[in-house]
Amino acid sequence: MASKAKSAKTVFVCTECGAQSARWSGQCSACGAWNTITEELVSAPAVSHAAPSVVRSSAPQGLDDISAEEKARITTGMKELDRVLGGGIVRGGVMLIGGMPGIGKSTLLLQICAHLGRSLRVLYVSGEESARQIKLRADRLGVHGDSLKLLCENDLGTVLSWMQTEKPDVAIIDSIQTMNMAELDSASGSLTQVRECTAAITRVAKALDIPTFVVGHVNKDGAIAGPRVMEHIVDCVLYFEGDRHSNYRMLRCIKNRYGATDEIGMFEMRDNGLAEVENPSMTLLSGRPTNVSGICVACTMEGTRPLLAEVQGLVTASALANPRRMTTGFDNNRLWLLLAVLEKRAGYFFSNLDAYINVVGGLDLDEPAADLPVALALMTGLRDKPVGEGIAAFGEIGLAGELRAVNNAEARVSEAARMGFTTVIVPHACLKHIRTHTDIRVVGVKTVNEAFDAIL
Ligand code: TYD
Ligand code: MG
Repeated sequence: MASKAKSAKTVFVCTECGAQSARWSGQCSACGAWNTITEELVSAPAVSHAAPSVVRSSAPQGLDDISAEEKARITTGMKELDRVLGGGIVRGGVMLIGGMPGIGKSTLLLQICAHLGRSLRVLYVSGEESARQIKLRADRLGVHGDSLKLLCENDLGTVLSWMQTEKPDVAIIDSIQTMNMAELDSASGSLTQVRECTAAITRVAKALDIPTFVVGHVNKDGAIAGPRVMEHIVDCVLYFEGDRHSNYRMLRCIKNRYGATDEIGMFEMRDNGLAEVENPSMTLLSGRPTNVSGICVACTMEGTRPLLAEVQGLVTASALANPRRMTTGFDNNRLWLLLAVLEKRAGYFFSNLDAYINVVGGLDLDEPAADLPVALALMTGLRDKPVGEGIAAFGEIGLAGELRAVNNAEARVSEAARMGFTTVIVPHACLKHIRTHTDIRVVGVKTVNEAFDAIL
C-alpha cells in the first residue's frame, strides 16, 4: 500500500480504516465511510523504514509446548479499573485509554501511580504538560515517591530508549498525539504518526514485557485519530466517557485480549481526583422524579454488572408535518420501530405527536432488554399515567408486540430487589430463569399490552 506514494509528497488516508489513496474523495473506497479522507505528508519510502530493527529469532512452536501460565496480574489499586481491565494489568499488555480532552485520563493514570509506586517502578511520559505542572497535580492527588519517574518528552525515539534503559514495571505514555517519530515527515497527531508511534511502543512493550498505558485523545466525533488502526494494534481499548457538565465518568472497555469486553467502571470527579462509585445504580437513580408520567426504570446489564437506569419519555403534540423522534442514550431507529409496534399491536397512536427518549446519567442503552422500559415510558407518557415508584422493567419487544426473553434475568431482578424495588416486569419466558424472590414481586408478561396492564 505504502509504495503507491512513490514520488508524491502527500497521500490521502482514511482516518477510519487507514486505507491510502492517491486522490481525495468524499467516500473511502475501502471501508465506505464518508468524509474520513485526510491528506498526510509522507517521506519518500513512506512508512516502511520506521520499523525499528528489533531482530528476534523466532521459530514455530508446538501449541502444547507453549506455557500459557498467566503471570499474576498487577492490581492498579482501583477496583473499578481492575475489573474493566479484566482483573488487573497484564504484563506486556498495551492499553489504550481514550477520551475527550479534560475528561480525566491523566488524572486517572497519575492516581494509579500512587498505588503502583508502592511496589513497582513506574515511568510516566508526558508530552503535554511540564514536569512542574505534573508535580503540582501529583501533590494535589497525594502521589509521591521516588519509584515514580517522570519524563517530559515528545520525541518517541528518546522515550523508547528511556524505556529500554529504565526497564520500568509499568509505563504510561500521555498522550499518543503528542509523540513524534523523527523519521516521519508528518506532524504529531497525524494518522501516520499515531499509527507508527503506537506500533513502535507496542513492539518495545512486548519485547521488554512492560505493561504500557497509552493515552489517546478523542475528537468531537468520538473517534481517536485513526481509531481503527490504533485499536487493532493494542491489546486493550478503554474509553473514558461522560458528560462535561456532570461529575460522573464511565470507563468502558471495548476491546480486551485478556478479558471480557463491555465492562464498565464508574467514577466521580472530585476536588482530590477521581473516586470510584461503588453503587452505580443508586447514583443513576438519585434525584429521580416520582409520580411523573413517562418515567420507567430499566434493569440493564453493562458487561457482567446489572445496572438500573432511568428512562424518560416525553410525548407532546407536534407542530410539524413530520413529527420529531429524538433519543439520547437509545438508538433512534429502535424508537421508530417501537412506536410502530405500539401503534399496530397495542393501539397507541403517536402519528401526530413528537416523541423523545432520554436515558439519564449519560448511559447508552444499546441492548434489546431496554425495549420494554422505553415502551412503558412512551405509553405512560401518552396516557399521562405515572409508572409506580417501586416498579422496574426489562425485556425485548418483537414486531408482533410480543415480549422476548433476554439474558441475565436473575441478575437483573436481584439488582432491582437490592435497590428496594417492589415489582419488576419481565418477559414471561424469563420466569424459568428467575429464582423465587420474597422481597420483590416478579410479573411475567407475554405482550406489551399485558405489560401496560400490569403497571396500572
Ligand atoms: P485531565 O486528567 O487533565 O484530563 P485529560 O488528561 O483527559 O485531558 O483532567 C482535567 C480535568 O479534571 C480538569 O477539568 C479539572 C478536573 N480535575 C478535578 O476536578 N479534580 C482533580 O483533582 C483533578 C486533578 C482534575
Ligand atoms: Mg491529559
